[in-house]
Amino acid sequence: MLAVYADAPSPDDPMAALVVGERPGPEPPDGWTTIAVEAASLNHHDLWTLRGVGISPDRFPMILGCDASGLDPDGNPVVVHGVISSPDWTGDETFDPARSLLSERYPGTFAEQVAVPRRNLLPKPAGLSHVEAACLGTAWLTGYRMLFTRSGLRPGQTVLIQGASGGVATALIVLARAAGLRVWVTGRTEPKRAAAARLGAHATFEPGARLPDRVDAVMETVGRATWSHSLRSVKPGGTVVVCGATTGPNPPADLSRLYFRQISVIGSTMGTRNELAALISLLVTTGLRPVVDLELPLDRAREGFAKMAAGETAGKIVFTRR
Ligand SMILES: NC(=O)c1ccc[n+]([C@@H]2O[C@H](COP(=O)([O-])OP(=O)(O)OC[C@H]3O[C@@H](n4cnc5c(N)ncnc54)[C@H](OP(=O)(O)O)[C@@H]3O)[C@@H](O)[C@H]2O)c1
Repeated sequence: MLAVYADAPSPDDPMAALVVGERPGPEPPDGWTTIAVEAASLNHHDLWTLRGVGISPDRFPMILGCDASGLDPDGNPVVVHGVISSPDWTGDETFDPARSLLSERYPGTFAEQVAVPRRNLLPKPAGLSHVEAACLGTAWLTGYRMLFTRSGLRPGQTVLIQGASGGVATALIVLARAAGLRVWVTGRTEPKRAAAARLGAHATFEPGARLPDRVDAVMETVGRATWSHSLRSVKPGGTVVVCGATTGPNPPADLSRLYFRQISVIGSTMGTRNELAALISLLVTTGLRPVVDLELPLDRAREGFAKMAAGETAGKIVFTRR
């Protein structure tokens, strides 16, 4: 079948490891099923995999892609929850020490077909297109958990979102605005800041800018480049929720600021099946939809990867079957 995969880890030049070509079709084990993929969205995770981050070298070649929308063997439209927990795990799947994401241990979704555990499927509502539904399982689910499960934020409070144009960042902007938060966003260019304002940001700032006031919580996906600003921007007793470190995972710890200001740093990863169900319900109820920057047929996936690698995102990049 046609698939987009990482041939071997390529730490310095991720695009060199990217292959669009033929891979064997899935052979689902007991309890799993095969989904015909209609759409799957690109995440920064796929660039990390090409670099060999978060995956052991013996797993290559590996089909990329963490989320999907497609059809089950009976033709029912389904959304895939990409967190694969141990077969006997109960409760919050993200706390299973043995959990993995599709494309880490098991082949991912950038293919004509993908094998997934049956319990990882949710019905796709008719009002959501496959392209929209494909954005939910990683970036939007991550933003949902950061805001609504991990941050402690309440309507009326102020949130700073570091980064304007990425998949998680655009999800955070839309969801935070819908939740009645005051939404402040940093973006690296004026067009990115203007796009964030159109999505619902109440105010936008250049990276590192002094803010009019300290915020109740910061949503961090950028890492080293914005970390000090995040700690300076949060009010005493406030929270920094971290799900990623695009610019590097080891920023200055700034411990004195942490303890004098009594700042809580909270990690967050993906989300549970129940959170994905709630996110889908939220979209159906409110009419909100994921921000889709670009749709490409799977055989042109390289163009999407190049855009993300260059930092030229404006929402989600989605690969479709045709
Ligand atoms: N833990 C988890 O479960 C989880 C889930 C999803 C994502 N993540 C992580 O979260 C991060 C974002 O993922 P994504 O898929 O949203 O990525 P993406 O679409 O490529 O977005 C990258 C974001 O980083 C921002 N950024 C700011 N300064 C940057 C700089 N100097 N260099 C590069 N980017 C910079 C960009 O902001 P501008 O708008 O200003 O360009 C943009 O918002 C990744 O590191 C990813 O691995 C983790």
